[in-house]
Amino acid sequence: MRQPELPAGIAAHTGGRPYRENGTGKSGARVLMYEDLVLKIQPSSPRNDREEVMLRWLEGRVPAPRIVCAEDADGLHYCLMTRVPGRMACDIAFLDRPELLIRRLAEALQLLWSVDLAGCPVRRTVDVELAEARQRVAAGVVDVEDAEPGTFGPGGFGDPEALLDWLESNRPDSAEGDVVLSHGDFCLPNILLTENGLGGFIDLGDAGVGSRWRDITLCHRSLRHNTDGTYGIIRPQVKADALLDCLGLRIDRDELRWYLLLDELF
Ligand SMILES: Nc1ncnc2c1ncn2[C@@H]1O[C@H](COP(=O)(O)OP(=O)(O)O)[C@@H](O)[C@H]1O
Ligand SMILES: [Mg+2]
Repeated sequence: MRQPELPAGIAAHTGGRPYRENGTGKSGARVLMYEDLVLKIQPSSPRNDREEVMLRWLEGRVPAPRIVCAEDADGLHYCLMTRVPGRMACDIAFLDRPELLIRRLAEALQLLWSVDLAGCPVRRTVDVELAEARQRVAAGVVDVEDAEPGTFGPGGFGDPEALLDWLESNRPDSAEGDVVLSHGDFCLPNILLTENGLGGFIDLGDAGVGSRWRDITLCHRSLRHNTDGTYGIIRPQVKADALLDCLGLRIDRDELRWYLLLDELF
C-alpha cells in the first residue's frame, strides 16, 4: 500500500523514513511501523481521545507507548507513538513455551492490578460498559456476524437487545466493587514480550478502571484462539485454564461467560 498523505505535524517526524505496514490488528486501523516509532491511523472517535488520556497517565506506571504527536485531519486520527520493544505474546517463540508464556501473561495482569488507581482518568466499569453497549444496540451497530458461533440464532440469543437484557439481569459478582487498572483488550497481539519479561502494553483504547475479570476473560479467550486453529496455529499444549492457576484464582465459568458475552456487543 502506498504511503498515506500525512498531516504536517506527523510528517515532520516520519517524512521519508522507511516503514513496514502491520496487518495484525483486526480493528481496520492502518498501522505503519518505523524503526523506533509506530503510526496508527483510524477514524476519529472518542475512543482515541480516551486512549491518549490513558497513555499519558500510564507513563511511569506501566510500560506502554509514549505519544510523540497526535492529530486529527479529514475525519482520521493520526497517533504517532514510540515503538514498544519485544514480540507479540502470540509469536510462535512464546506459543512453543507455554509455561513461560502463561507466567509472563499472569505477571502482566498482576502488574496492572498493582497500579494505584488514584487519579486514573478513565472508567470502564461494568456500569459504563453496559451503558455504552445499550447505546450501541439502540444505534444498531452491533455486528452479529462477528460473534462467536452460537451466540445469536438457534440455541443462542435472538438479537443483541436480548443479549443485553440478559447481561443486565445477570450481572456477575465482579461487577460490584473490586476494580483494578484494566487493559480493556488484553489479547495476545496487544501484549509485547521480550526474552526478559514484559516489553509493554499496546492498543489501550479501552483501558481504564474496570473489573479484573474483563482482562482475564479476554486473555483466556485469546490463549484459546491463538492455539486452537482459529488463526491457523494449533498448539494443544497451551492450556488457557493454566492462566487462572498461575494467578492463584479459581476458574469461574460464570464470570468468563459474562465478559465474553459483553464483548460481543462491542
Ligand atoms: N507502539 C507499538 N509498538 C510496537 N508494536 C506496535 C505498536 N503499536 C502497534 N504495534 C503492532 O501493530 C499491531 C496492530 O496495532 P494495534 O494498535 O494493536 O491495532 P488494532 O487496534 O487493529 O489491534 C500490534 O499487534 C503490534 O504488533
Ligand atoms: Mg491490537
